[in-house]
Amino acid sequence: MFSAETYTKRRSILQSDIGRGLILLPGNDDSGMNYKDNIYPFRQDSSFLYFAGIDRPGLTFVIDVDNNREILFGDELTVEEIMWTGPVESLAAQAVKTGIKEIRPLSQLAGFLASSVSSKQDIHFLLPYRADDTVKLSTWLDIPVALLPQRVSVKLIHAIVRQRSIKTSEEIEQIEIAVNTTIDMQLKAMELSAAGVTETEIAGRLQAVAIAAGGNISFPVILTSNGQFLHNHPHYAPLQNGQLVLCDCGAENAMRYAGDLTRTHPVNKKFTTAQREIYDIVYQAYQAAADAVKPGIHFKDVHLLACEQLAAGLISLGLMRGNAREAVEAGAHTLFFPCGLGHMLGLDIHDMENLGEQYVGYTDSLKKSTDFGLKSLRLGRELEEGFVLTIEPGIYFNPLLTAAWQAAGKHSAFINYEKLAAYENFGGVRVEDNFLITASGSRILGRPFAKTATEIEHLINL
Ligand code: GLY
Ligand code: MN
Ligand code: MN
Repeated sequence: MFSAETYTKRRSILQSDIGRGLILLPGNDDSGMNYKDNIYPFRQDSSFLYFAGIDRPGLTFVIDVDNNREILFGDELTVEEIMWTGPVESLAAQAVKTGIKEIRPLSQLAGFLASSVSSKQDIHFLLPYRADDTVKLSTWLDIPVALLPQRVSVKLIHAIVRQRSIKTSEEIEQIEIAVNTTIDMQLKAMELSAAGVTETEIAGRLQAVAIAAGGNISFPVILTSNGQFLHNHPHYAPLQNGQLVLCDCGAENAMRYAGDLTRTHPVNKKFTTAQREIYDIVYQAYQAAADAVKPGIHFKDVHLLACEQLAAGLISLGLMRGNAREAVEAGAHTLFFPCGLGHMLGLDIHDMENLGEQYVGYTDSLKKSTDFGLKSLRLGRELEEGFVLTIEPGIYFNPLLTAAWQAAGKHSAFINYEKLAAYENFGGVRVEDNFLITASGSRILGRPFAKTATEIEHLINL
């Protein structure tokens, strides 16, 4: 937990941004995996955590802006519950630490909201992403489930995005803890990778690193010899010499801030010439993007700059042809890089994604594109000091996509399909780091860590 001042300041900014009405922030509940009491690890809702600060299930936070009241609805554990859990800090003590003065039993919440509804108070809420919250909101506010999306408060979304987008120094400290644990996970992946070892065995050991550091993973580990499939999850498949291992993983620290790094390394500890050529192109695109990010630049332009670097590199290898800028304008590079260059990072690995990508990553004057490639770019807007984001270019040789494009003769002016045939089993390469936007440019987060092919080869051969 941060200090009570941190949370009270966040809430007072939120109150003045919203102006009038009632702000309703339900916390998450425990969720059963295969029966009610066998639960997934608890994860608090990030906006609840940001404003109310308390990381336990069964709470709902209400800010009654009209009457300047903050009420936490929730119950203390009973003696019978503590019999199972052991002693836990009281809700009253936790509320003091986050500056919340009024706690009311959960049983009073429905009645409280019903009277707010009947007095026609404006109730500001976010779109729920869990079924239980969907049902609760629908019941409390007497809104059919199907109508909830159109009744969410865009004003509340904007106000939350405004605050959560700019990371304070105490938040950056937390993200950096998560990034450093993520580096430990990456080192473990490199240490364990060898012919005959399964992807699942390594992925499990990476999760152990995150848990041992006091948190958990920030998203399911992607550790795969099939890096061409962007979010391919580990399989019970033994690694083989000659393959590349793409490891995209993140730790979430005890305060629930996330790291998100990708490295790609060869199973037999030495890149082949072809692997190194592709790696170097990806790295050049990464470096060009890292050099470009600063306040005032649109991340969409940084994405396009990286795409152009990728295309230029692929042209130099003869896998693409023509002019790099024209190829990117036509979208031909998306065969190799069909996704976005990066996203915001914070309490969520894709920070605030549930608040809506248009609101988080774009603006009224910059709409998210629906074009293949750009439609997967989660962040396009002008960067501001205090943003934390990822830069994660890659080159992916996806044989399924290639076959479909080739059959359709797509972009054949720019793509050398004949030469591409030799890359059918190549896989994919991605490099990903986490950056803070500073007044003059950016700062990479976390301790120094191998990035180039040479640095990676050196590290895995130590
Ligand atoms: N693993 C998801 C991402 O890097 O965005
Ligand atoms: Mn990642
Ligand atoms: Mn990422």
